[in-house]
Amino acid sequence: MGVSASGARLWHSLGMGPLWRERAPAQSAELAHRGQDAPAQLDWQGLEQAVAACTACELCRSRTQTVFGVGNRQADWMFIGEAPGAEEDARGEPFVGQAGRLLDNMLAAAGLGRERSGEQAVFIANVLKCRPPGNRNPEATEVAACAPFLRRQIELLEPRLIVVMGRFAAQWLLATDASIASLRGRVHEVPVGARRYPVIVTYHPAYLLRNLADKAKTWDDLCLARDTYARLCAVRLEAPAAG
Ligand code: URA
Repeated sequence: MGVSASGARLWHSLGMGPLWRERAPAQSAELAHRGQDAPAQLDWQGLEQAVAACTACELCRSRTQTVFGVGNRQADWMFIGEAPGAEEDARGEPFVGQAGRLLDNMLAAAGLGRERSGEQAVFIANVLKCRPPGNRNPEATEVAACAPFLRRQIELLEPRLIVVMGRFAAQWLLATDASIASLRGRVHEVPVGARRYPVIVTYHPAYLLRNLADKAKTWDDLCLARDTYARLCAVRLEAPAAG
């Protein structure tokens, strides 16, 4: 049981110390409020707790639950989307609606999957961990509050390759306002923490549901991603042993 600030003043004015001390907030919730660098030291478990307890922006009021991310935490592949929709908010898992089924099909066609292991394993996360009401676009303040969680996820996962899906996630990660069309078809490099990560940009699965003609371009993007991954693995095998 805690004592309020006015209660504490009353006890003090009576010359008595409070009988109860306000309990320090749980580390994760406290960290979630400290802004940009807050989650920088957290492990997977602490990060997941911090996300679940986060009240750093208004979205905490309308969410059913936070959507942390799904997949293998040793995966070489990371796929990043925008924000949970209604079904993700209800189930607590990213990409479980219609767009998610398309994503799973595309991953399977590329020999990847959220439940797979080894070189076929992926981890899937969003820039925002809470659903914007009515699936509206994320606001800058919401992104500023939430992005440190994604940054920490990248640092913990250390993926060999990141695939960003859709304009919003691509523009955020690459810190640009360029169009998807101009960002596709090449490998970008993005610094996160102490490392630089290769990044490939593709269309968002929800966009593809409305623009079937661009599915072929997304397949090209996945082929580029597979080739890039193979090259990165080969480079690592060829690297001379130290010493
Ligand atoms: N769209 C996204 O960007 N992420 C989800 O998890 C679902 C739909």
